[in-house]
Amino acid sequence: MQGEVQIGGAKNSALKLMVAALLGQGAFCLENVPHITDVCTMAEVLESLGARVRFNAQRMEIEVNALQGRTPEHLVKSMRASVQVMGPLLARLGWVEVALPGGCAIGRRPLDIHLSGLQQMGASIALNGERLVARAPRGLRGADITFRYPSVGATENIMMAAVLAKGETVIRNAAREPEIADVQAFLNAMGARVTGAGTEVIRIEGVGELGCANFVVMPDRIEAGTYLLALLTTGGAGTVCSVRPEHLSPLLNAVRSMGAEIAVDGDRISVAAPKRLRPFGLVTRPYPGFPTDLQPQMVAAATQAHGRSELRETVFDQRFGYLTELRKLGAVARQKGQVVAIHGPTKLHGTRLEAGDLRAGAALVVAALAAEGQSLIHGSQHIDRGYEALERKLSGLGARIRRVE
Ligand code: UD1
Repeated sequence: MQGEVQIGGAKNSALKLMVAALLGQGAFCLENVPHITDVCTMAEVLESLGARVRFNAQRMEIEVNALQGRTPEHLVKSMRASVQVMGPLLARLGWVEVALPGGCAIGRRPLDIHLSGLQQMGASIALNGERLVARAPRGLRGADITFRYPSVGATENIMMAAVLAKGETVIRNAAREPEIADVQAFLNAMGARVTGAGTEVIRIEGVGELGCANFVVMPDRIEAGTYLLALLTTGGAGTVCSVRPEHLSPLLNAVRSMGAEIAVDGDRISVAAPKRLRPFGLVTRPYPGFPTDLQPQMVAAATQAHGRSELRETVFDQRFGYLTELRKLGAVARQKGQVVAIHGPTKLHGTRLEAGDLRAGAALVVAALAAEGQSLIHGSQHIDRGYEALERKLSGLGARIRRVE
């Protein structure tokens, strides 16, 4: 494979910016919003709460006037990120009701950090059957909150709850993912007073109300990483365009250690696979560590490295479900607890595969591209949650891939 591929807006930023709009009033415009099903589901969530959403090309207009705080169960169950409405709605309305969330099947994903943060800000939370009911009839108040783990979603949820709370909120041991800085910039453009995103301590000074804002969603570092790994795994050379290379450092360091040549030029990253890929040892960790969302694709790449690679997953506790499918292609991968050892290189052979979740699906696509013969990947709806125009973009790089009904 070779050529250039344009990277779209970040799913994990766009979803949160959409939710953040619930904190303001008036007409918002988001640009560079990716056309993926998670974004469409979030648009439905916003509409169910009373907002009006128009989504054309990569531009989304959101109009927020009167809101209500009860989210429909089927939407929350299909996408965990829907719980992000808790903070903003509690702040705006003083109450919110959400069903317990669903989303990718990649392990237990409790909400304790979100809920304990909201409770420390004065919310009372009860479980009513399958629904969480949170109330703060007299409003939320600022608090000094220390997270037991730097959860991305909880950091954003508490940030959003705090922008309209009385007084100052401090989040310690906050997640440092770049998408959180995007949320901070958007909130501040609406009139909020947030500092520290990207570091372990975020400070939020509550304000009386927020207006509206226009914003351009940052590039998707996970989409970019997936294409870089597809190029590497297939022994190709190519360029991902419109990215922020500094957000991809953990991946770039890893692929350099595998012998790949990397060239960074402004907002473009080029990769050229070496003749002989070297194996690696990696551990997934919160940012700036190696991202768990690239773990499955990295394991797909390891099947073509000469020797034994090892990858330890520390962020999610059940993120190796796709190994069964990878083995059907011929991969030699042994899992022990949270560690997988991959022996390469193996000649992969195309076969029928089932994508079980979003990034697992991406890994199967990467491995199938490196395999001899044809693969048929079922479960493409999981891949569509997070990859815009995957088959068009991969075809542009020389892959033979098409969608079949
Ligand atoms: C976000 C990303 C997801 C990414 C993940 C980690 C979005 C929409 N999704 O998910 O793509 O893989 O960050 O980078 O932005 N946890 C708790 N209690 C909590 C919250 C989380 O124990 O209250 C645990 C989870 O079970 C998980 C770990 O913390 O094991 C990381 O979760 P978190 O950082 O919250 O991920 P998400 O925000 O769900």
